[in-house]
Amino acid sequence: MDFKIRTFENEADKDFFDKLNFESFKHDFIRGKDIPEEEARKKFREFEAADPLDPWGKDHLTYFASTLEGELAGLIWLAERKAFYKFKEQLVWIYNLHVIPKYRRRGLARKLLAKADEWAMEQGLNSIGCHTLDFNTQARSLYESLGYKLIATHNESCFYEKKIGVLHF
Ligand SMILES: CC(C)(COP(=O)(O)OP(=O)(O)OC[C@H]1O[C@@H](n2cnc3c(N)ncnc32)[C@H](O)[C@@H]1OP(=O)(O)O)[C@@H](O)C(=O)NCCC(=O)NCCS
Repeated sequence: MDFKIRTFENEADKDFFDKLNFESFKHDFIRGKDIPEEEARKKFREFEAADPLDPWGKDHLTYFASTLEGELAGLIWLAERKAFYKFKEQLVWIYNLHVIPKYRRRGLARKLLAKADEWAMEQGLNSIGCHTLDFNTQARSLYESLGYKLIATHNESCFYEKKIGVLHF
């Protein structure tokens, strides 16, 4: 299936961005727990407030994927980040990668991650990093299939890094 990948265009993108951030939060932190929607939203607000970010600021970039008819299908939210924790150099960080359920397993996340590679190269950065949780086997096998290496674990957290310009086998 063909998808279009582009940067921000309109207010509907912002709503989609907010919706998918919340979905990713629920996927990771609420999981199967039977928590009422309002309580999940409250926890999400607390989570965001603990690390306030400006996704529309100059160091951030989001790619949106849509069907050829224009239906939004997924996104990847990227930002430049200084070296931190086990990441030894300035890098592109993946703050969110999400494909809506009906468009999964069609190679869209792989396409979005290819945009992350392109953007990192344009920024002259050699490294891309992300965080996922150990139970998230679909994300982990996605990253591992693309040459991301597990460089640190902490409790349930898994930190992955891919070096750009390095051959990955
Ligand atoms: C993880 C996610 C982004 C994958 O999106 P996707 O578009 O379905 O992924 P792709 O079709 O590009 O899959 C590429 C590879 O990822 C792995 N993968 C994807 N979904 C998988 C699944 N359900 N089980 C096992 N492996 C999976 C496979 O290696 C797959 O390659 P293959 O289809 O050749 O076997 C999507 O499932 C999602 O949005 N999940 C919820 C949010 C999330 O977990 N985001 C990651 C946060 S770190």
